[in-house]
Amino acid sequence: MHATTDRPLVVILAAGAGTRMHSKRPKVLQELAGRPLLGWVLETARALEPGEIRVVTGRESQAIRAAFPDADIRFVEQSQPLGTGHALRVALDGVRGSLRVLVLYGDVPLLSSVELRALIDAAQPGHLALLTALLDDAEGYGRIVRDPEGRIRSIVEQADLTDPEMLAIREVNTGVLAASAEDLVTLLPRLRNDNAQHEFYLTDLVPEALATGFTVSTRLASDAKRTLGINRACDLAMAESKIRTLITGKLLDQGVRIRDPARFDLRGVLEAGSDVEIDVGVVLEGSVRLGDGVRIGPYCILRDVELGSGSEVFSHCVLEGVKAGRNVRIGPFARIRPETSLGEGDRIGNFVEIKNTRMGADSKANHLSYVGDAEVGKKVNLGAGVITVNYDGTHKHRTVIEDEVMVGCDVQLVAPVTIGRGAFIGAGSTIVRDAPPGGLTLARTEQKTITDWKRPGRKD
Ligand code: UD1
Ligand code: MG
Repeated sequence: MHATTDRPLVVILAAGAGTRMHSKRPKVLQELAGRPLLGWVLETARALEPGEIRVVTGRESQAIRAAFPDADIRFVEQSQPLGTGHALRVALDGVRGSLRVLVLYGDVPLLSSVELRALIDAAQPGHLALLTALLDDAEGYGRIVRDPEGRIRSIVEQADLTDPEMLAIREVNTGVLAASAEDLVTLLPRLRNDNAQHEFYLTDLVPEALATGFTVSTRLASDAKRTLGINRACDLAMAESKIRTLITGKLLDQGVRIRDPARFDLRGVLEAGSDVEIDVGVVLEGSVRLGDGVRIGPYCILRDVELGSGSEVFSHCVLEGVKAGRNVRIGPFARIRPETSLGEGDRIGNFVEIKNTRMGADSKANHLSYVGDAEVGKKVNLGAGVITVNYDGTHKHRTVIEDEVMVGCDVQLVAPVTIGRGAFIGAGSTIVRDAPPGGLTLARTEQKTITDWKRPGRKD
């Protein structure tokens, strides 16, 4: 006898052709909230602390292995997609004994591990446990057929449905099954493929088990939307909406103020302090850390961003690879690119692009500037239209702007160049050599007025 503490084997089936997706990308690598479908299934599997995880892959094996190089996964090849029953048979090669096996489908990404644990506990030698769900629209799923006493008899696949009464059944197979390894190894070779799709259906285990004298129990999923199987693009869109609800639900519970949960997407991990406010249309990707009281305005995209407490991003900004101190103001309409750090109290205004730049505290670039490959000190003011000319056509060069420099409007700083501490650069200058600290540097033609000038074409 096995103890219920035995670690189960989790098998994830991911070798199907995925033709209904009409995509070149393998189905289990389709992205849901910024992560491949299989990534979500693996996360659920790992939460169960299994003894082993096996993933069955097929034609697209290489791409899937490359996406998941993790050491805790054992990949098993199913050379041809002959059906889910065949896939499990291939996966269990060499497995014996009373070890409990949990079968998950790589295209069912939203399951809760709590529910799965209960299913594993229910599986015993001579007893199969299935997870079912009650759907309003059961189209596409295997239907659970019961006898008049309510006991499960079989599962009928959509393609094999001929009886209109069965079409009306709303209880469906989620694809999740738990059983002992020896029972599966006994039953799987008995499956036949005499059905509409000429596949070895895993679902036919039910009548086989009953015919052998085993028992089969079902557990109804508490949230049917979490059993959604992804077969078509519309299923993926539905799953995205469901996962958004799950993610925002958790964030709202933590006190993050999301203005409209239906118009917020997290495609990564958010770590948020207290009193963080996120307006509509915001997309957060990768790893995002927002300090206390941070406010993100409408329609901003932040990827791998860290903002210190009290900072505010106004509407329509795109920030990627940015680390900012406290009380920074960014936008509206600013674009900040990777390898950029901003100091406490910095102000970045509209139509400003910053890339690979370190900016000290209390500096400003408020209007229409490009600052790239630069080192900007503290209390620097960059006027409207300042451009660091960082590229000579072959190489990128750095611009150094020391503390308390004031750069006038419409200035080009041709890198490599250094503007000394406290220097003032006159508006309209093209600076090609270092400017010394403290002084006013101008590099433009002097203004003159021609008084006896006549406007062309004017008769007087
Ligand atoms: C399957 C179930 C159906 C259930 C639904 C839940 C069967 C026969 N049908 O239908 O009862 O309601 O899931 O979402 O099991 N796969 C392989 N090898 C194969 C075929 C499939 O590994 O030869 C994998 C696929 O990659 C996929 C999973 O098994 O991850 C399910 O296959 P899919 O073709 O999507 O089955 P459904 O038609 O969704
Ligand atoms: Mg499916």
